[in-house]
Amino acid sequence: TILIVDFGSQVTQLIARRVREAGVYSEIAPFNAADAAFDRLQPKGIILGGGPASVADIGSPRAPQRFFEAGVPILGICYGQQTMCQQLGGSVTPGHDSREFGRAFIEIRDRSALFDGLWKEGESHQVWMSHGDKVDALPAGFSPIAVSEGAPFAVTSDEKRRFYGVQFHPEVVHTPDGGKLIANFVRHVCGLSGDWTMAEFRATKIAEIRKQVGSGRVICGLSGGVDSAVAAVLIHEAIGDQLTCVFVDHGLMRMGEADQVVGLFREHYGIPLVHVNAETLFLNGLKGVTDPEAKRKFIGKTFIEVFEAEANKIGGADFLAQGTLYPDVIESVSFTGGPSVTIKSHHNVGGLPERMNMKLVEPLRELFKDEVRALGRELGLPDIFVGRHPFPGPGLAIRIPGEVTKERCDILRKADAVYLDEIRRAGLYDAIWQAFAVLLPVRTVGVMGDGRTYDSVCALRAVTSTDGMTADIYPFDAAFLSRVATRIVNEVQGINRVTYDYTSKPPGTIEWE
Ligand code: XMP
Repeated sequence: TILIVDFGSQVTQLIARRVREAGVYSEIAPFNAADAAFDRLQPKGIILGGGPASVADIGSPRAPQRFFEAGVPILGICYGQQTMCQQLGGSVTPGHDSREFGRAFIEIRDRSALFDGLWKEGESHQVWMSHGDKVDALPAGFSPIAVSEGAPFAVTSDEKRRFYGVQFHPEVVHTPDGGKLIANFVRHVCGLSGDWTMAEFRATKIAEIRKQVGSGRVICGLSGGVDSAVAAVLIHEAIGDQLTCVFVDHGLMRMGEADQVVGLFREHYGIPLVHVNAETLFLNGLKGVTDPEAKRKFIGKTFIEVFEAEANKIGGADFLAQGTLYPDVIESVSFTGGPSVTIKSHHNVGGLPERMNMKLVEPLRELFKDEVRALGRELGLPDIFVGRHPFPGPGLAIRIPGEVTKERCDILRKADAVYLDEIRRAGLYDAIWQAFAVLLPVRTVGVMGDGRTYDSVCALRAVTSTDGMTADIYPFDAAFLSRVATRIVNEVQGINRVTYDYTSKPPGTIEWE
């Protein structure tokens, strides 16, 4: 295991990913919980991440001093390098006249175990810099092994103690060899074998679930999404029919989705599944509701009530299974303080545990989204499930600005299905983070055949993103968009005009409500 200490960088999670890509398990701990994490994990190597603070500031975060006496290799990245140097007796100055941001080149000056088989003396390599401060005096035992224009100590090392510091960010894609450099650290320097695979994860988790659950009963809410599906299949493999799945069908799913969920789980996997058809309940409650937050709150609350009622009917369950992922678990290090504003109240099964007073089974807690997908494939889940675009808990309700009715849901479902069909045919589905249609509460005049139409407008949205936090529009070519527009207007009664949403996030959000 590699322990990654978080000092608040936006990209700490990327370090964990690079380590895992090298086939080595890693966990992130905030700097103020790093001590405990060290005792628990007994890591074979430590990576000190970047952060927004300046080591020159009073009270800025530090790595636990005992890490430097533990005999374990350490890689300090950016802030991590600076605090390591300062904690070991070197010095750092706020280097305002030599800040470096963005692409830079480093020149390799010496050999190092960190560079073995990768970088050689005299070579120049592109890296991504982002620092205002820089190390200006090295601690005893350290020497510079690579330099850049703004950082004479771009890479430094104490080969004897196996301490390495890099001023740049190897974890981001703009450092082309960064992944290999991190792999070199964890495998070559720390001596880890790189055999952390999904097959191994699956076997370990199954054993853990059996141990945790014993002869108890587990219920799991399925949403149609990847995370809950993978969690359910994994748990079923571990404990068989001690698991019951509950699928609360709010009638706000995409075309054919509800049938797919039932088909896959009940028929294909033979997992006991309760399909609660609550469409009427949800649509009745949404009557006259037009405010986005009111829609979200109603759906979230009703979902929990329905789920709870079903769980009580089943009775005797001791555990609630959830598809919680690693990004939801990591305690983020905040330097800004103060609560952030609520943009949207998210609905997923997140509110359930407190209410239902059940113990949690969360077998995906250590995984990132794409690792969950890899595990899904390992478990034999079909690609159509595993590769599916994210879908929000409140479903189509937040893609129908204005009042949600059964009729409008049906219209939207058809338009959305045409759009996704064309995206799949064009081979673009996997290149897009999320694509969907929105049905607008606007009617416009059109002409079809010889007649006048006065129907709804549909907006198409497609974005690329890595985490949903920021997003860019997907640049379809004009021929593709006009093909989709023609098909939607021809095939979907109730829509006579199609527009394309050209807004990135920020300033737009991905969903319209
Ligand atoms: P926004 O619209 O905030 O969406 O840019 C970011 C990502 O989150 C998804 N989303 C949700 N997911 N429950 C969910 O589980 C929700 O209530 C919810 N609202 C938005 C959205 O689809 C996008 O992937």
